[in-house]
Amino acid sequence: MHGIIERYRTRLPFAPEDPVVSLGEGGTPLVLAPRLSERANTEVWLKLEGANPTGSFKDRGMTAALSAAVREGAKAVVCASTGNTAASAAAYSARAGLTCAVIVPEGKIATGKLAQALVHGARVVALRGNFDEALKLVRELVNRHPISLVNSVNDFRIEGQKTAAFEITEALDSELDALCIPVGNAGNITAYWRGFTQSGRRPRMFGFQAAGAAPLVHGAPVKNPETVASAIRIGNPARWEQAMDAITSSGGAVAAVTDAQILDAYRFLAATEGIFCEPASAAGVAGLLAHGVQDARRVVCVLTGHGLKDAQTALEQAGAVLPCDPEIDAIERAVLR
Ligand code: F0G
Repeated sequence: MHGIIERYRTRLPFAPEDPVVSLGEGGTPLVLAPRLSERANTEVWLKLEGANPTGSFKDRGMTAALSAAVREGAKAVVCASTGNTAASAAAYSARAGLTCAVIVPEGKIATGKLAQALVHGARVVALRGNFDEALKLVRELVNRHPISLVNSVNDFRIEGQKTAAFEITEALDSELDALCIPVGNAGNITAYWRGFTQSGRRPRMFGFQAAGAAPLVHGAPVKNPETVASAIRIGNPARWEQAMDAITSSGGAVAAVTDAQILDAYRFLAATEGIFCEPASAAGVAGLLAHGVQDARRVVCVLTGHGLKDAQTALEQAGAVLPCDPEIDAIERAVLR
């Protein structure tokens, strides 16, 4: 299957002769969620962005950012990250043959993401600081050195990520009323709104932040953001104004969800819909359940990353394994009890 640049080139800033760095991203499943629909009392669809090559929506933006970097003759890329951007940048850089450095908050990213960045050969820098400090530093770094910044402050990231809205518009032939999406650095909600408006759609945009990391909800930066949803542990989003513009011009809202609500939605999706997403991804569903989406009859929740990224949280949240002796009686007791 073609990646998003090949599929949507005429609606992206790439000419036919431009180099393309792709891993076949995009084209992710959009599935109806019957149990969630029942609980939320509205028709809910889930966009499974964890089905992208590195397990998160970042790949849509990264194919665009890396293709542009190659076109510009860049030799190295850098990003600050809570984990997924790092994993995606590392993979696409490996694919392109570029050097990659990622700056992550020390001890604060899920192990799957760390493993990805390392195995793809990125230089992984563990900052004794948080994501917001890391982003500030990489912005300074690229002012001093000819390194391409692949965070979502890079507009190619937004261009690539807007294609998810194109896919949703194509898949749902009748009107979509609302989109529920987790918000961290606020690039993705900005990208969806751009994609929807370019498709002539204006669903209400509902952005959800973790209660301990909810600057858009408070209207002020959060100095020490905290949440179990490590991917959205961000206190000063770079795309603050654009996110608020998407929310207000679409007639949506921004609200906070507690860690308990996030984990409840996370377990509910896994246990009743068969869908394993990471905690940050469940924030959109938690928001739908906790706050509702006004009168919306058809809703899409974006599940931004795969649950395997953060196996540790899954093991903490799920049931225990059953030890068993290798005998038929013991197996019977273990299986049938
Ligand atoms: N969900 C997941 C799984 C994420 O990794 C992120 C962001 C978001 C939601 C929020 O998206 O930042 O565009 O508002 N992760 C970034 C990273 C910050 O470094 O991987 P956003």
